[in-house]
Amino acid sequence: MAGENGSGGAAPAGRPNLVLIGFMATGKSTIGRLCARALGFRFRDTDVQVERWSGKTISRIFAEDGEAAFRRLESSAIRALSARSGLVIATGGGAPVDPANVARLRQGGVIVLLKASPGEIVERSSRRRTRPLLADVEDPERRVMELLEAREGAYNRAADAVVETTGLSAAESTARVLQAYRGLEKGWSAGRVAAR
Ligand code: S3P
Repeated sequence: MAGENGSGGAAPAGRPNLVLIGFMATGKSTIGRLCARALGFRFRDTDVQVERWSGKTISRIFAEDGEAAFRRLESSAIRALSARSGLVIATGGGAPVDPANVARLRQGGVIVLLKASPGEIVERSSRRRTRPLLADVEDPERRVMELLEAREGAYNRAADAVVETTGLSAAESTARVLQAYRGLEKGWSAGRVAAR
């Protein structure tokens, strides 16, 4: 895919980060990488940042230190990444539940929510067993529904735009996210100018 500014080149100043939020297995990492290539941005994943810092997998952090410890590391990763520009940032599925995370992400970026049906989420996540919140549960679809319901409000409040990915290929979803980004980017720049 040809980059808008040359693949992998430095991002032009003044463009907002593209932040992808959404439930586990909605395609944030796959679509994020494709968007980064198209925009000439760097791709960063908050889960990967947390794993690098702690030297442990997400599953091990949950098992040995607990979810609260993971959330603290996740917030630190968000703080560090939000201070930079020229990034596509994929967040962990639980990140938008904390309004402080959303406020930080919004400072330097525009936020696109990826959605997928519970059936597709279960189907996609069953291919990898790296998600402690879905591991070892008797009824994964029910767990997904419960978590989705609990998080829906936070997701919708955080989102500047929503892209439904159910039934779409990664390339099709990427095209929709890029279209949303370009629309939001205009408003973001205008807002910055007005705020000066
Ligand atoms: C989580 C989602 C995961 C990871 C952790 C917790 C969540 O990230 O951050 O397992 O609370 O939904 P992905 O959304 O990338 O799977």
